Amino acid sequence: MNVAVAGATGLIGQALCRALAEQGYSVTALVRNSARAARVLPSVGVTLVEWDPWTAGPWEAVVGQADAVVNLSGEPIAGHRWSPDYKQRVRSSRLDSTRAIVRARSDSGAAGGVLINASAVGYYGDRGDTVLTEDEPPGQDFLGQLCAHWEREAVACRSMGTRVVLLRTGMVLSRDGGALEKLSRPFRWFVGGPLGRGRQWVPWIHIADVVGMALWAIETPEVAGPVNVCSPNPVRMRDFATALGIVLKRPALFTVPAVVLRLIVGEMADMLLSSQRVIPKAALDGGYEWRYRLLEPALHSTIG
Ligand SMILES: NC(=O)c1ccc[n+]([C@@H]2O[C@H](COP(=O)([O-])OP(=O)(O)OC[C@H]3O[C@@H](n4cnc5c(N)ncnc54)[C@H](OP(=O)(O)O)[C@@H]3O)[C@@H](O)[C@H]2O)c1
Repeated sequence: MNVAVAGATGLIGQALCRALAEQGYSVTALVRNSARAARVLPSVGVTLVEWDPWTAGPWEAVVGQADAVVNLSGEPIAGHRWSPDYKQRVRSSRLDSTRAIVRARSDSGAAGGVLINASAVGYYGDRGDTVLTEDEPPGQDFLGQLCAHWEREAVACRSMGTRVVLLRTGMVLSRDGGALEKLSRPFRWFVGGPLGRGRQWVPWIHIADVVGMALWAIETPEVAGPVNVCSPNPVRMRDFATALGIVLKRPALFTVPAVVLRLIVGEMADMLLSSQRVIPKAALDGGYEWRYRLLEPALHSTIG
């Protein structure tokens, strides 16, 4: 089976490409810079093809002929303060790359296959204690509207008979970087604790299960539409901080008040303070088996 992966050099993409190659898939990574990609992707089992969503090239045939396309591309959401310019980069890097992939499949007459497109739990907005399954509507904030547009671009692929899966991913726990590394830093300096009042729900997922759920989505023809990629056990921020403190053997006593967080990171604070009690109903109903359902073992495996 041929799989094309865009955004392959990122946190999730690297782990996914490694797993796909190990399982014998023929993997083509669509990368913007092959020299940089060659340093982080496996040299065996992964072919590198340069692409640029705005420029025609051989990458289009790769996308058109792939049995499965996984699109993880996007400017990092937490990489910078959310200025209007940066928000536009975050938005266009996702919408344009998804649109380009759909167009490449359409132009090459591709039929069938599967498109696995990234999205995020930010889709739901700030929803307090409401239990959120895949049926809930999008939030009206920046991330909610971004995810809704991003998903609409991907869903256009259905008109070619392509199965489309939308991975609404929670906070990924990995030893190779991402949010956990940033959240752990104050703990290492003995000043860790919850962000805001700590009542907000945090949907989390171990990287092994992000990869596991992407493979499950590729391989299971019945999986289609939005899939919440998170553990079945979301926790409140204060409990997340307590667990992190236990695993790091550090206190979790210092809260960062919302007003201070907004001063430090601006509008991005909304993402850190918003509450999403997300339940992975599609994966539970579809029989996916998690490797990490509980937070403490997941944290031990990544930073213990
Ligand atoms: N990690 C999480 O906790 C998390 C949670 C929810 C949702 N997600 C979503 O899942 C996807 C993958 O996450 P990740 O953590 O693996 O992301 P990541 O580490 O930031 O990697 C994303 C990849 O996208 C490509 N990229 C970066 N800037 C780009 C731009 N301006 N235009 C086009 N492509 C660009 C890069 O690949 P090349 O340089 O090789 O092109 C990069 O390696 C992202 O869309 C992210 O929003 C992640």
